[in-house]
Amino acid sequence: MDRFKEKIVFLTGAATGIGEATAKRMASEGASLYLVDVAKNELGETAEACRQFGGEIVDRICDVAKEEDVSSSIAETISLFGKIDIVANIAGIQLWHHTSDHPVSDFERTLAVNLTGTFLVCREAIPHLLKTQGSIVNVSSTTALAGIPYSAAYAASKAGVLALTKSLAVEYAKKGLQVNCINPGGIKTAMTKMPPIEDIDMDLLLRQNPLSPFVEPGAVAGLIAYLASDEGRHINGEHVRIDGAALA
Ligand SMILES: NC(=O)c1ccc[n+]([C@@H]2O[C@H](COP(=O)([O-])OP(=O)(O)OC[C@H]3O[C@@H](n4cnc5c(N)ncnc54)[C@H](O)[C@@H]3O)[C@@H](O)[C@H]2O)c1
Repeated sequence: MDRFKEKIVFLTGAATGIGEATAKRMASEGASLYLVDVAKNELGETAEACRQFGGEIVDRICDVAKEEDVSSSIAETISLFGKIDIVANIAGIQLWHHTSDHPVSDFERTLAVNLTGTFLVCREAIPHLLKTQGSIVNVSSTTALAGIPYSAAYAASKAGVLALTKSLAVEYAKKGLQVNCINPGGIKTAMTKMPPIEDIDMDLLLRQNPLSPFVEPGAVAGLIAYLASDEGRHINGEHVRIDGAALA
């Protein structure tokens, strides 16, 4: 398949996990990519792996929570490639605390990366996406749809991503923009390790586990690629669970 031939993709969180898998998937289908992350070495490795497919691949350090980083990265994408067709907002962090002990700094940092970061990338990219009639795929979470213990800031940030997604879809659908989000759960990445906190009630924690085994991030990459491709074009303002029936 070469669904992304001549497409320019701006993708955040490209260093590891779902972002890495999505970058490779889109590169393998012909995309040129501008990849951003804060993890320099792993980002470089993803970019190198993507280059073997022949597209033009640029990798840059960019903290999506920083307005100046995001605006200069989008501006550089335009100066290098001349357009943006697809944005994949995949960067995210998850910090664990009993809420009664939750430092406000960690609450704010979680919102800053997961929600403000997604907003900033969307805001900066939208004028360019309107020119290409482009597509945005944001990564929310099952935690936006059902409660999770010890990660309230994360859940709140991902519910924000869901609401942001639907609002942008409504605001820009008539102008040809497509905006969707996905709600993964139980994907084998660094993020799904056991929380490093004490006094965990495992019954509560496992409430959102898939009914089938955890899957590799490539399974999510396939969904993001589908939504961003022409095949998924009429899906707009939707959120799609990919969670092995966890919340069914
Ligand atoms: N793994 C799951 O089961 C699961 C479930 C629901 C949602 N998600 C979401 O999927 C996305 C990818 O997570 P993952 O599971 O692949 O974990 P991951 O930790 O492997 O990937 C997260 C990536 O985001 C990058 N990142 C973190 N802060 C950043 C910042 N400020 N600016 C730019 N990049 C930053 C990290 O360096 C990393 O490469 C996240 O948004 C996560 O919340 C994952």
